[in-house]
Amino acid sequence: MALITDSNEAVRILKSGGLVALPTETVYGLGANALDERAVAKVFKAKNRPSFDPLIVHVASVAQARLIAEVSDEAAELFERFSPGPLTLILPKKQIVPDLTTSGHSTVAVRIPNHPITLEVIRNSGLSIAAPSANPFGYTSPTTAAHVIEQLGDRIDAVLDGGPCEVGIESTILELTNTPRILRLGGLSLESIQDSIGKVMIESSSSNPKAPGMLSSHYNPGVHVRLFESLDELLAQYNSVNKSSIGLLIMGDGPSESNIYNLSPSDNDLEAASRLFTGLHQLKTKGFSEIWAHYLPAKGLGRAINDRLKRAAH
Ligand code: TXA
Ligand code: MG
Repeated sequence: MALITDSNEAVRILKSGGLVALPTETVYGLGANALDERAVAKVFKAKNRPSFDPLIVHVASVAQARLIAEVSDEAAELFERFSPGPLTLILPKKQIVPDLTTSGHSTVAVRIPNHPITLEVIRNSGLSIAAPSANPFGYTSPTTAAHVIEQLGDRIDAVLDGGPCEVGIESTILELTNTPRILRLGGLSLESIQDSIGKVMIESSSSNPKAPGMLSSHYNPGVHVRLFESLDELLAQYNSVNKSSIGLLIMGDGPSESNIYNLSPSDNDLEAASRLFTGLHQLKTKGFSEIWAHYLPAKGLGRAINDRLKRAAH
């Protein structure tokens, strides 16, 4: 495994069928040529990902999206408005996309990521790049190159270091049906989407999910997470227990001690999202036997953060 900063090196590896972890604005993705079945098979293997869980394909423009998917006028408008950015659209796939990439679905997930070096890789390679989050299946997504190396370092060819991810939480996945449906809450807020296309439904998780990112225990941080309704409720409990074994993941005006990671002292949902996975990771690394966290107000990215916390606590 090589840690690289040169996009040309990433292009070379991807074109020869290798795996490169790529930075995006949301989380790091494990990239491979989406149209090369052998490369895609390596992605499933490296992540230990079940073959029924389809991959998101990353492109650099709407024109490139049209090479792999049927892009309706409505989809094109959404891309124009929110991309590059944390929006993934589920669209009818074109035949050129291998069934392995879409796990046999007749649709393909398409996204234009907002990170300059990865856009450069896509443009210079001319490839459509399949990139699931660069973590072993079921674990929390990496938001720095170091997280990727820790989790997958011995299973991939390279990590392209593009710094920490700015959004920090995965893209919002939207399926455009009669009533558009969000399959996964994410880095683009529900409010932004509804401002643009009116009411959308939110698919709740189930045992037979459309997007396995909706599996109820999908963001295992590797340590037990206990979730409270609010910061006040968390602190009330905390004051009556032995504190040394507990790490706190909080947001807002609260105490600051070495076992406490504050996602955003000023209650900013964007800042909180960008620090969520790093916070979980740091508290885990410090060796606490439990992490206590609390729900955030259900607005803006608070919804997606609550979704991830709920799954981490499952
Ligand atoms: O922000 C992101 O979306 C990141 C970065 C790297 O782009 N990627 C990411 O990929 O989160 P992944 O594989 O961890 O999550 C993709 C989700 C999965 O839950 C998968 O089931 C769903 O997208 N998905 C992919 N193709 C689909 C399809 N055709 N229909 C429904 N869901 C699909
Ligand atoms: Mg993932």
